Amino acid sequence: MPHHQASSELHTICDVVRWAMSEMERRGIELGHGTADYWEEATFLVLRTLKLPFDRLQAFWQARLTQDELWEVTENIKSRVLDKKPAPYIVHEAWLTGQSFYVDERVLIPRSYIAEFLEDRLEPWVDPEGVHTVLDMCTGSGCLAILAKMAFENAQVTGADISADALAVARINRTRYGLDDDLELVQSDLFSHLGSRRFDLILCNPPYVTQQAMEELPDEYRHEPALALEAGIDGMDIMRRLMPELKNHLTENGLAVIEIGDGREAFEAIWPDLPVTWLASEEEEDMVFAVKARDLQNI
Ligand SMILES: C[S@@+](CC[C@H](N)C(=O)[O-])C[C@H]1O[C@@H](n2cnc3c(N)ncnc32)[C@H](O)[C@@H]1O
Repeated sequence: MPHHQASSELHTICDVVRWAMSEMERRGIELGHGTADYWEEATFLVLRTLKLPFDRLQAFWQARLTQDELWEVTENIKSRVLDKKPAPYIVHEAWLTGQSFYVDERVLIPRSYIAEFLEDRLEPWVDPEGVHTVLDMCTGSGCLAILAKMAFENAQVTGADISADALAVARINRTRYGLDDDLELVQSDLFSHLGSRRFDLILCNPPYVTQQAMEELPDEYRHEPALALEAGIDGMDIMRRLMPELKNHLTENGLAVIEIGDGREAFEAIWPDLPVTWLASEEEEDMVFAVKARDLQNI
């Protein structure tokens, strides 16, 4: 990439967005971290580097950049297309159901389908009035725990993760949302540090990437912590440990809502008779399931 040349020939936001898109196409970058195409990816990266809102593009389209800004934007584009670093790690920001979360390479970039269901307070599968305690197991950046706190304002919400690094990021987000006193974060290998505590609702977006998928991962995903992704040959390593423990940590009428990506077949191979409900979102229909405490007794 003729970087020096780019810096002297690009002037406006339109120029840098155009150049970013061309470079993305030339280098064949992979998407999957919050944007649908190169246009969205380029505008997100450029506008958020410049600390501008990405929904008011017209107002700034022909605005010229200062030399320092141009340097920063071109560095960030280079990082995106040459190092294949996902845009949210570059601008330290990921959006999920209209909320922004701080991210860096210590956590998975938020994209869980569970977020969509939380927008509707998980109705009709949950009676929101009956939710007094929520656990977000494998909380990572804390995104689902924070969205759960928004959905169930009066509930006590706890986020748990095995990774001290991830919890450091979750604490940043907790502070940003003014939830220091209202959101508990616990370092725990699954339930090991949660004693005999029970919750009305357990959310979990665990690692579920199969060994083969790990080997074929596009470069972008290799920037994410392997601990957040890999789950053995069939992607069920964490699930095999999690499922039998769930019944000891749900209240009598409790419900667990769990995301397993494209692992439905592997899941049903292990628990063929378990009555679970697959939740259909706008885009996908068998990525997330709900299971009731009372249906887990025989696991
Ligand atoms: C797929 S990420 C989900 C992060 C976040 N909930 C989200 O949806 O963006 C999985 C998370 O599980 C954590 N994790 C992996 N193994 C774990 C274990 N044995 N116990 C608790 N957390 C674990 C990882 O550190 C990572 O933060």
